[in-house]
Amino acid sequence: MSALPHLPQAPLDRLGRPLHDLRLSVIEACNFRCGYCMPADRVPDDYGFDQAGRLSFDEIETLVRGFARLGMHKLRLTGGEPLLRKGLPALVERLAKVPGITDLAMTTNASLLARHAQALRDAGLQRLTISLDALDPDLFRMLSGGRGGIDDVLAGIAAAERAGFSSIKFNCVVQRGVNDHEVERMAAHFRGSGHVLRFIEYMDVGTCNGWDRARVLPSRELHARIDARWPLRALDANYRGEVAERHAFLDGAGEIGFISSVTAPFCGDCQRARVSADGSLYTCLFSGSGQPMRSWLGDGEAVFSARLADLWSRRADRYSELRGSVRAPRRHVEMFLVGG
Ligand SMILES: C[S@@+](CC[C@H](N)C(=O)[O-])C[C@H]1O[C@@H](n2cnc3c(N)ncnc32)[C@H](O)[C@@H]1O
Ligand code: SF4
Repeated sequence: MSALPHLPQAPLDRLGRPLHDLRLSVIEACNFRCGYCMPADRVPDDYGFDQAGRLSFDEIETLVRGFARLGMHKLRLTGGEPLLRKGLPALVERLAKVPGITDLAMTTNASLLARHAQALRDAGLQRLTISLDALDPDLFRMLSGGRGGIDDVLAGIAAAERAGFSSIKFNCVVQRGVNDHEVERMAAHFRGSGHVLRFIEYMDVGTCNGWDRARVLPSRELHARIDARWPLRALDANYRGEVAERHAFLDGAGEIGFISSVTAPFCGDCQRARVSADGSLYTCLFSGSGQPMRSWLGDGEAVFSARLADLWSRRADRYSELRGSVRAPRRHVEMFLVGG
């Protein structure tokens, strides 16, 4: 991966935020039905676009090159479940060569990772984030909507380690009364592993998950519980806009994080764009609608990036901070379309 030689004027949005970070969904379908994201009673089993409805690899590469021209350097592939996208390592190989991309990562439920980890690593994928809400086999299956097995995920993690992925991030969405009794077990499992567990507050994303504030477990409560068992020390953020509050175990057993998306929103530093698998841009996780961009790709990356720069310079989203006020939009894009 190389630095971009002649970066054009990188746009700032109306709140002065640059475009550094892109979450790109490569597929909207998923083999799980997590209740907080894609509940089985609201999203049918055969949900998804046909192949023609998704951006092709050529289109994705043009899009990523266009974003990189504006200063985007952190790229995360997501879904739906990204490992369901056929030929993903070939796409990773192309994206790893795009000038300017310094960080190429993927978020996955890891159920199919055992068979893909080595090919993804060889293709140039640098970092992995794995979603894991429980270790107990029955609870894990229930949380995945009855579709997933913890053994497949553990096999995926082992394969990723063998393939050379280190410092894997594990995202655990904590819901009060659902999986909060697993929190200490999860922390104990990942302490000393070299990986980083992050607890995420259950968010009011999308419109189909029947979000209930009573199930949100504030990070400060979780922090107090973990700190009481294994004392913690706060760490500085790695970079501006980092969403997780980082803490180190005082006994040297590594790091743990807390993402307070509901109780301590962080719009002020948000440098992130999201693109759905059909090529629509969402400038906020809570956007009501996206801007279709697929038709812009045929004119090449330079034209595409000029249009994108214009859009970004008009961005003023800060939903999390407006949450609850009359100016907050009521409809939000579904999480499985924009990938977290
Ligand atoms: C939409 S998934 C897509 C990638 C992949 N299928 C996975 O689960 O890792 C990305 C992330 O969004 C998180 N997520 C989905 N709905 C959520 C919600 N209501 N609150 C908090 N996190 C959520 C998931 O836990 C996951 O870590
Ligand atoms: S969180 Fe990920 S694994 Fe769960 S339903 Fe959503 S897209 Fe699928």
